[in-house]
Amino acid sequence: MTTTGTALLTSAAQLSEKISNKTAKVGIIGLGYVGLPLAVEFAKAGFSVTGIDLIQPKVDRINSGESYIQDVSQEDVASLVAEGKLRATSDFSVVAELDTINICVPTPLRKTKDPDMSFIVSACQEIAKFVHPGMLTILESTTYPGTTDELVLPMLTGSGLKVGEDLFLCFSPERVDPGNPKFQTRNIPKVVGGVTPACTQLGALFYAQALENVVPVSSTQVAEMVKLLENTFRMINIGLVNELAMMCERMSINIWEVIDAAATKPFGFMPFYPGPGLGGHCIPIDPFYLSWKSKQAGIEARFIELAGYINGQMPHFVVEKVQNGLNDLGKAVKGSHVHILGVAYKRDIDDVRESPALDIIHLLQRRGAKVTFSDPHVPSIRIEDGIMTSTDLMEAVGQADATVIVTDHANMDYKPIIERAALIIDTRNALRGCNAPNIIRL
Ligand SMILES: NC(=O)c1ccc[n+]([C@@H]2O[C@H](COP(=O)([O-])OP(=O)(O)OC[C@H]3O[C@@H](n4cnc5c(N)ncnc54)[C@H](O)[C@@H]3O)[C@@H](O)[C@H]2O)c1
Repeated sequence: MTTTGTALLTSAAQLSEKISNKTAKVGIIGLGYVGLPLAVEFAKAGFSVTGIDLIQPKVDRINSGESYIQDVSQEDVASLVAEGKLRATSDFSVVAELDTINICVPTPLRKTKDPDMSFIVSACQEIAKFVHPGMLTILESTTYPGTTDELVLPMLTGSGLKVGEDLFLCFSPERVDPGNPKFQTRNIPKVVGGVTPACTQLGALFYAQALENVVPVSSTQVAEMVKLLENTFRMINIGLVNELAMMCERMSINIWEVIDAAATKPFGFMPFYPGPGLGGHCIPIDPFYLSWKSKQAGIEARFIELAGYINGQMPHFVVEKVQNGLNDLGKAVKGSHVHILGVAYKRDIDDVRESPALDIIHLLQRRGAKVTFSDPHVPSIRIEDGIMTSTDLMEAVGQADATVIVTDHANMDYKPIIERAALIIDTRNALRGCNAPNIIRL
């Protein structure tokens, strides 16, 4: 064995030992919905964790023991910070002292629906300044297959370090489901694939210290594709039921009853439900990362484009339902007061990113409606004309010409709402089993 070979082996072995005895210094870049829960899990597992984020108020809040993510408890952050297990900084020079780095920065779409890689690139540029032998880097941001090997790897090995020997690089898709009380970062199986077998081994060893179940795969591309398959599967199936909802409307069939009955089949069927449109950072966005990459490989992702189109029609479909309901009462959308009940993109969370409620509000306002909203989790939203604040629910429902249930938050008492509302458009089947004449279902 060459001298270099011995040194290289030592790098992996040393890191492996530090990970196993939890003396590895862990870094998490991007302290959002994905990064903060991950940082907390590793700190709880006994590692010393440093979070890096560009937004100084987030850094300050963590360092003062405060959580700003609904699924991360205040008590956990406060005690981990007090114990010295968790801290945050906006200074990337700390990377020089870190043994592992997880990159959890945003991966949005550009207006053209092309991947916006600027956050990953800028994080990697900073890491590259302080990259050192014996370091494990894991990209967690959802992205197109090939990103880790083609984009991240050259940035980290520019200084001559060799992957799989001097430094280690993996991709591991994040599967967090905000607001899910049953499955959280710790008990969601973690898929990880490395550039080399040594990278995969170290990545799997790392996650096994803090998470319950690790699933190693043979490459970064497989790991990247896993996430895109999962989210594309959801997006396309939601597109299918949304199209069925539009068909059922024409045929006067209750789509919800159809799905409930179909779901009694004990095999070969999985229920998906229609709704006012897709929301959040994953389902409406990630499949377009795949279609972009697939186009480069010469294959058009037709299922994705079609489901994207159908799902994009849903806010319009909801507004049409509002219009038809108002017309039946001898009113027009123009000049009517429409109250939106729930603006978060799904139940029991405070996140409005890509929420269909924003589209529905915009479409109604464009047609001349006066729009208000209430949401127990969201105090205010940004709309085209500025900031809109949540109003008193019962007062607004009593005054409105129509109320639209866009988000079905749990623990909502719908009985007085049904009694007070002139007209309710229920896009989530929140009023299941109730047949009052003022209810219109999707
Ligand atoms: N939110 C989810 O439910 C979810 C689920 C699975 C996967 N993901 C994926 O995980 C990734 C992160 O998503 P998120 O929801 O946590 O985003 P987020 O916006 O909540 O958090 C990202 C954080 O990264 C920080 N940041 C941006 N650029 C940075 C940089 N160069 N250096 C340091 N910090 C930087 C931002 O300030 C922000 O705090 C995305 O790729 C997303 O698609 C998200």
